[in-house]
Amino acid sequence: MTTAPIPGLDRAPTTHRRLLAWVREVAELTTPEQVVWCDGSQGEWDRLTTRLVEAGTLVRLTAKPNSFWCASDPADVARVEERTFICSRERADAGPTNNWMDPVDMKIIMTEQFRGAMRGRTMYVVPFCMGPLGAEDPKLGVEITDSAYVAVSMRVMTRMGSQALAAFLDDEGTERDFVPCLHSVGAPLAPGQQDVPWPCDNTKYISHFPEERMIWSYGSGYGGNSLLGKKCYSLRIASVMAREEGWLAEHMLILKLTSPQQKVHYIAAAFPSACGKTNLAMLEPTIEGWKVETLGDDIAWMRFGEDSRLYAVNPEFGFFGVAPGTDWHTNPNAMRTVERGNTLFTNVALTDDGDIWWEGMGEPPAHLTSWKKQDWTPASGEPAAHPNSRYRTPITQCPITAPEFDDPNGVPLSAILFGGRRADTVPLITESRGWEHGVFLGATLSSETTTAAVGKVGVVRRDPMAMLPFIGYHAGDYLQHWITMGKHSDADKLPKIFHVNWFRRGEEGRFLWPGFGENSRILKWAIERIEGTASAVATPIGYVPTTAALDLTGLDTPIEDVRATLKVDEAQWRAELPLIEEWFDTIGDKLPATLREELYALTERLA
Ligand code: GDP
Ligand code: PGA
Ligand code: MN
Ligand code: MN
Repeated sequence: MTTAPIPGLDRAPTTHRRLLAWVREVAELTTPEQVVWCDGSQGEWDRLTTRLVEAGTLVRLTAKPNSFWCASDPADVARVEERTFICSRERADAGPTNNWMDPVDMKIIMTEQFRGAMRGRTMYVVPFCMGPLGAEDPKLGVEITDSAYVAVSMRVMTRMGSQALAAFLDDEGTERDFVPCLHSVGAPLAPGQQDVPWPCDNTKYISHFPEERMIWSYGSGYGGNSLLGKKCYSLRIASVMAREEGWLAEHMLILKLTSPQQKVHYIAAAFPSACGKTNLAMLEPTIEGWKVETLGDDIAWMRFGEDSRLYAVNPEFGFFGVAPGTDWHTNPNAMRTVERGNTLFTNVALTDDGDIWWEGMGEPPAHLTSWKKQDWTPASGEPAAHPNSRYRTPITQCPITAPEFDDPNGVPLSAILFGGRRADTVPLITESRGWEHGVFLGATLSSETTTAAVGKVGVVRRDPMAMLPFIGYHAGDYLQHWITMGKHSDADKLPKIFHVNWFRRGEEGRFLWPGFGENSRILKWAIERIEGTASAVATPIGYVPTTAALDLTGLDTPIEDVRATLKVDEAQWRAELPLIEEWFDTIGDKLPATLREELYALTERLA
């Protein structure tokens, strides 16, 4: 059989042989109408967004510059954990918390899914770099996608295009390695077939090949499933690299906190999806003289520096924020960031004057177009924006982005916070008794499920280091890696680990703690503990502040509520013990002995 050459395939702006060979192989398998190598230019953005508007995928907003509204297929609104696979050669290497399939079997299945999958579509080749381009060992990737929406989103979320491609050859002209990331929405077009605004397939696969360091994603256009530099590369594949190379790839924000005395501390924090990372990263402190700047809102890569301190880098270049709940009171810096334009909004509501609206943004207008593309009025009785609706916006636009976010060396961490969404039991803040106890707090982290992933919402599950859906290997090995990392440095150089919970509830389910900007009071206490100036009470679960130890100046919240958020209810904690035990049993033999010992010690302290 002879096939016509695919237009654009030979217009490659690189001589990188492995890349050229892979692009050709994918084009021959997926048979797109043409191939486009993305350069990341403004002209390319304008071309692609114009095409997406014509296709009905995007609506140009009139109220914000260079910004767009998009409504997805109603069945493609979140990460699909049930369809996410770690295809290590050995099943045991994926561990008990991941879906596993044999890599050969998965490739056979997915090759048939990809065969002809791009028919009638353009295949975009998007070279990208996770982390600063100036890094000594830049972490490169190439996403091949048949979605123009993914291609433009990659421009917001990563360093991509010509600037990234330049790094594919090192100073000597040697070809660097990259992670091949293949994505198709899985909706080929027959000749003359009319496209839909949001093509996708009912069948979805998000597959990772950790030994080969390769990602194949099929059937979804949702951010976490389709922007493969993010969760798939920077967490699942990177966690495997990190373990081998002695660093950490974590689901963490990074912020810079400056005290009134101009003392600087960097803090990283891991909370499960939709549990407050983006908001904490952009916090506007309510306490006098304190300043927060942001370096990242979702992912941190951490390694020890020559001074034995742990340094963190944000591999991303944009924010992928939860829209509902974001407004001028809760997160003014996010509002300022998106006001500047260049932002893609997915599954929020559209106003009649070409702006966006979502729940939590104050009084709704009398009429909206809902995320389901239906007329919506306040009487409609359902949310106008999907609860997991999102904005994608460049980090460089955030008015409080710290310039060192682009430093390849990263920033030295003073503290790591682990947090979740717990209606009871877990106090506002607890300081660990040391690194290993801190790892125990992370390893036993629990949180109510949210709409960021498909499935039941509000169910408490264990989510180690907020990484449950993102650990690319065995969870027991992962926890051991955390323990081992702590041995690389002296206790006084390691970041101090804390456990936080902004979501404890009182009667009628109301939140006891106001959260958002008020969380600065909690950060302040953490820093004062590090500096040795704040007091704490030793409890069976760790060190907890009294209301007197916190700076509550000007706080409206009743003192009884603050006291209730800080309470260590030993009966509730005793009820937690069998749940932790059960979780540890799930991990099995590879659970580090240190963590069993920590559980035993906690049990003793609670007896
Ligand atoms: P992320 O997905 O972890 O980055 O979480 P976000 O920062 O996007 O927040 C997820 C949801 O939780 C949003 O609806 C926020 O408005 C809400 N949220 C964030 N921080 C707080 C807080 O401190 N208190 C309360 N009650 N809600 C919060
Ligand atoms: P989030 O990012 O953590 O900000 O929700 C998306 C996700 O984790 O799916
Ligand atoms: Mn996340
Ligand atoms: Mn976020």
